[in-house]
Amino acid sequence: MSRTNGLTLPIPAPVARAAAPAAAASRAGSIITLDQVTKVYGANGTRVHALAGVSLSVERGEMVAIMGQSGCGKTTLLNCASGLDDVTSGSVSIAGQDIATLSDKARTTFRAHNMGFVFQTYNLLPVLSAVENVELPLVVSGVSPKEARQRAQAALERVGLRAQGEKRPAQLSGGQRQRVTIARSLVNNPEIVWADEPTGALDSRTADDIITLMETLNEDQGLTFVIVTHDAAVGARCHRIIHMVDGAIVREERLR
Ligand SMILES: Nc1ncnc2c1ncn2[C@@H]1O[C@H](COP(=O)(O)OP(=O)(O)O)[C@@H](O)[C@H]1O
Ligand SMILES: [Mg+2]
Repeated sequence: MSRTNGLTLPIPAPVARAAAPAAAASRAGSIITLDQVTKVYGANGTRVHALAGVSLSVERGEMVAIMGQSGCGKTTLLNCASGLDDVTSGSVSIAGQDIATLSDKARTTFRAHNMGFVFQTYNLLPVLSAVENVELPLVVSGVSPKEARQRAQAALERVGLRAQGEKRPAQLSGGQRQRVTIARSLVNNPEIVWADEPTGALDSRTADDIITLMETLNEDQGLTFVIVTHDAAVGARCHRIIHMVDGAIVREERLR
């Protein structure tokens, strides 16, 4: 990656990096490292091997798409890599922290400080205004109401919704609602944003607006994005596409 700390260096890194998914050793600049991660759901008889030994490294400032058929394990990968869910075996390291060694509480705090999440369905509380939805994670983590409001307004500004802060989700379009969830994901100034089918509920034009917003946040601020998507148009806007089949990475495409 030719980016560090949000700055685009004038000269692209000349090294042709070996695209070896099995090489899980943490490379310089890698912010997410998975080593032989497996995930088995259920008990005897009803076991589902959702991840069958996934190794993956994502660099700081990279924008990666995870693609594959429904049921191939994309959401499981995102949940395990982000620490939302436990792995069955293997290891996950985020910014040098082995997340399996953290207690549940420490992991929740670690996520809150380092990561934002965007889902297909917006997960916005209908009774709260846009700005209240965005500030909620801050209020919950003990930030003062005044500072929370200022930071939420700044986050809404980053997604182009400064003037819509008082509206409730029902008064916003689908694209605007997804912008609110992106603002909420940014409110803690995370380094990584995980997105699971962020354009899945949007028409293609609105989807394009949302991915353009993510691209801008990636380019201008060096945010690392991991985006699970069915949508080839979304994948095509990323630096790299990871293709999954049956719980395994079968192919990688480096696009830029
Ligand atoms: N909580 C769960 N309990 C049991 N099986 C699950 C659970 N979540 C996902 N699975 C199964 O794991 C596999 C991968 O699911 P998922 O990661 O949701 O796929 P994708 O996001 O690619 O559609 C599927 O076979 C799915 O049915
Ligand atoms: Mg899924």
